[in-house]
Amino acid sequence: MEIRIANRLNGIGEYYFSQKLREIDELNKCGKQVINLGIGSPDLPPHPHVVKVLEEEAAKPNTHAYQNYKGNPALRIAISQFYKKWYNVDVNPDTEVLPLIGSKEGIMHICMTYLNEGDRVLVPNPGYPTYNSAVKLAGGLCTEYDLTEENDWQPDFDGLEALAISHKRVGKEAAFKMMWVNYPHMPTGKQATSELFEKIITFGKKHNILVCHDNPYSFILNDKPMSLLSIKGAKEVAIELNSLSKASNMAGWRVGMMIGAKERVDEVLRFKSNMDSGMFLPVQLAAAKALNLGKDWYDELNATYKERRGLVYQLLDMLNCSYVKKQGGMFVWARIPKKYKDGYELSDEVLYNKNVFITPGGIFGTNGKEYIRVSLCAKAEVFTNALQRITSSAPQGGMD
Ligand SMILES: Cc1ncc(COP(=O)(O)O)c(C=O)c1O
Repeated sequence: MEIRIANRLNGIGEYYFSQKLREIDELNKCGKQVINLGIGSPDLPPHPHVVKVLEEEAAKPNTHAYQNYKGNPALRIAISQFYKKWYNVDVNPDTEVLPLIGSKEGIMHICMTYLNEGDRVLVPNPGYPTYNSAVKLAGGLCTEYDLTEENDWQPDFDGLEALAISHKRVGKEAAFKMMWVNYPHMPTGKQATSELFEKIITFGKKHNILVCHDNPYSFILNDKPMSLLSIKGAKEVAIELNSLSKASNMAGWRVGMMIGAKERVDEVLRFKSNMDSGMFLPVQLAAAKALNLGKDWYDELNATYKERRGLVYQLLDMLNCSYVKKQGGMFVWARIPKKYKDGYELSDEVLYNKNVFITPGGIFGTNGKEYIRVSLCAKAEVFTNALQRITSSAPQGGMD
């Protein structure tokens, strides 16, 4: 019997990290003890009060039932207060919030809610690979917009205008149905500014494009957390995803959120409520606790990331890479020296000769080819160890 997969999976490969982690596992089985500086999964625990809420709520007999699709009111209120406190954005907790099982699922849900076969979507190059795959899985077509170091990793709005005009379809239909944006930007660390956000909203409004802003990194190594929705009138054209994975150290808990106008929340909920049910109540209540944490939580987190970043700078100096110091998010993005063909070559050399894994920038798009990305999600001693391996001229057997 021949079992054939659906056409929608054509051109969709296994996620790069899922493949690479298998290779690293194999190397480890051979005794290599690879230091993995690839993935952005926080190694630190959530605040103890958050874990306590989870424990206490999970121990109760009445917290195990199916949950409301729109999320528990306590979580929705906490999200609304969080948006007001940190971003100065008014969010109606009853109508403008949709808790998600991580923001990654939100990317897929949004694409499934709005895209018809053949609809064009603007996605950043370089950018988070899930935007491309979610658009394709939903039947859409990706048009990549360039982000380059020369243009400070911002979209070239003149170029975008020209693109929007050249793709304009007959009649009233917009050239692009949707645009994905993400600042602080992963992988480049480019931070948001209100001028940039203004331009994005103006562009979206002018061309009738749904702007989807993915905002999981605004609290990491970034002095001024910003929401795209803080721009006047933004909710008319934009929705925003946010996440507890990074700044609350809760990546494995799978808690994210979508914020947008009531109509958008209702539309996405029409899709999502057919896919899953509400999150485990103790997780929702613990997430509400995490969102209520004060500035001291973020300050402590950032002090740790700053210390680690100093070590990553040393590591990059050893590799003769160049980098900008003011980057937001939990990575350092760096340009590779000319002697390498691309970031893959450098990454492989360091993996096979030094047993250290660093992400090649090319996995985020062609504009990332000459770069690498180092994650800050490892203890300081791990970076020191990686630095020693890279500095040492002796072959690395991995036993240190
Ligand atoms: C830019 C970006 N968006 C979204 C996500 C996914 O976050 P979540 O854990 O909330 O699904 C990531 C995770 O690496 C990311 O880098």
